[in-house]
Amino acid sequence: MFTVGFVQFCPLRYQVEQNIAKLQTLLHGVQADLLVLPELANSGYLYAAPEDLAPYAEKGDGSGPFLSALRMLAAQMGGVIVAGFAEKSEKGLYNSAAAVGGEGVIQGYRKTHLFASEKDLFLPGDSGFQVFTHEGVRVGMMVCFDWFFPESARTLALRGAQVIAHPANLVLPYCQQAMVTRSLENAVFSVTANRYGVEDLPGKTLCFTGGSQLLDTKGNRLLQAPTEGDCVALHEIDPAAADDKVVAGRNHLFRDRRPAMYE
Ligand code: ACM
Repeated sequence: MFTVGFVQFCPLRYQVEQNIAKLQTLLHGVQADLLVLPELANSGYLYAAPEDLAPYAEKGDGSGPFLSALRMLAAQMGGVIVAGFAEKSEKGLYNSAAAVGGEGVIQGYRKTHLFASEKDLFLPGDSGFQVFTHEGVRVGMMVCFDWFFPESARTLALRGAQVIAHPANLVLPYCQQAMVTRSLENAVFSVTANRYGVEDLPGKTLCFTGGSQLLDTKGNRLLQAPTEGDCVALHEIDPAAADDKVVAGRNHLFRDRRPAMYE
């Protein structure tokens, strides 16, 4: 069995050190194989311009304060932490996720489908959808609005993901329900780690919807957090359930696809 879960919290803008301290408190004594944190967990979400966000972003190689702290936490936890973070590169900023174990960064992912004003801050992700293996379990990452494009979860599933780790900062009311279909249509577990709270800039207010969740391969909710409040929740799963792609006896989720008809 494999213990997975999420951390729901409210990342504070401009406060990387406080966000790290909050995670250290929330993860104290937690043991898990895979734990998913929200999108942009180092920096918070709403910034007017890339120059405002850049001081709180860091490199994806694990050398910065946020991913270094996650490495220590992953070592204590005995597993892998997937977290969304603002990534700084030579080309510009990315809205990224990293899978971090006790030895450092295992894999990075740069958000493919940027949402709304994210397009003013970040470059479109260029990493593609990748799958890494931890303790024999295949895990893929996508970030928040990637859920709106079924190709994201489908690509991860076709590449072998048994579990989709999905850091999020959700503001629309649809994702928690839509992910039921993403899990079901791909027969994968999914962990959506969302944030809660409110952020504003002049003329703009965003309310984040909480409700982080773990779904099984049939779309059943194994865990769900409230719409507000800090929450760490864990559940044991059998990842091998995601290897069964047969539906209703005679159908197979992948072998019955007809890509020639989709062109
Ligand atoms: C989102 O992609 N953060 C809504």
